Amino acid sequence: MSTELLEKLDQLPLLSRTPLAWGKAVLEDPIALLIDHAFLEKKACNNAMELMTRWPDEWVPGWVETMTSVARDEAAHLAQVTRLLIKRGGRMARSHKSEYANALRLVGRKGGIQDSIDRLLISAVIEARSCERFAILSASAPDEELALFYRALFSSEMGHYKVFLKLARHLADKGEIAQRWEQILALEERILGEQAPGPRIHSGLALL
Ligand SMILES: [Fe+2]
Ligand SMILES: [Fe+2]
Repeated sequence: MSTELLEKLDQLPLLSRTPLAWGKAVLEDPIALLIDHAFLEKKACNNAMELMTRWPDEWVPGWVETMTSVARDEAAHLAQVTRLLIKRGGRMARSHKSEYANALRLVGRKGGIQDSIDRLLISAVIEARSCERFAILSASAPDEELALFYRALFSSEMGHYKVFLKLARHLADKGEIAQRWEQILALEERILGEQAPGPRIHSGLALL
């Protein structure tokens, strides 16, 4: 078991931590976990594509470049996940429910600059949590292929969380973004805590 990524988790601002036991539990059904994961990558790609033309006001330098780059990464992750899924005897499903991400998106403020700020901060917190979960999965993986796969995703999602947060900081003054970010982090902790357990990337811990 490689635990070097676990040391890097201190960099993440998340208010709750996932125990290694969660990784062991969800990896008992790796196919279901990969199917859920594939949908998350698909949604992350769609989200970046959707955001690409939603810069607020006249123009935000770096906005389009950030979104195209994130969308490209997420499409590459989706290809990796589905390749692994099919190699291991699974099949993609046609639909999927993402209660964690949906609940987070519902707390976003609608309209004006607050809409854009919240979309970025909510995207950032989902990336940060995914990043944390990939470190736990890499440390808990039953084989080298899965361990390396989750480790590569950890680094990429760490980059995405930072880039979304950085972009949000262009939209309002430092204090306002910091305050809203604290609120989003607290909401994320609560929403994750309400999730049912099961082989999903953003599942809860109830049965551990
Ligand atoms: Fe991704
Ligand atoms: Fe991402």
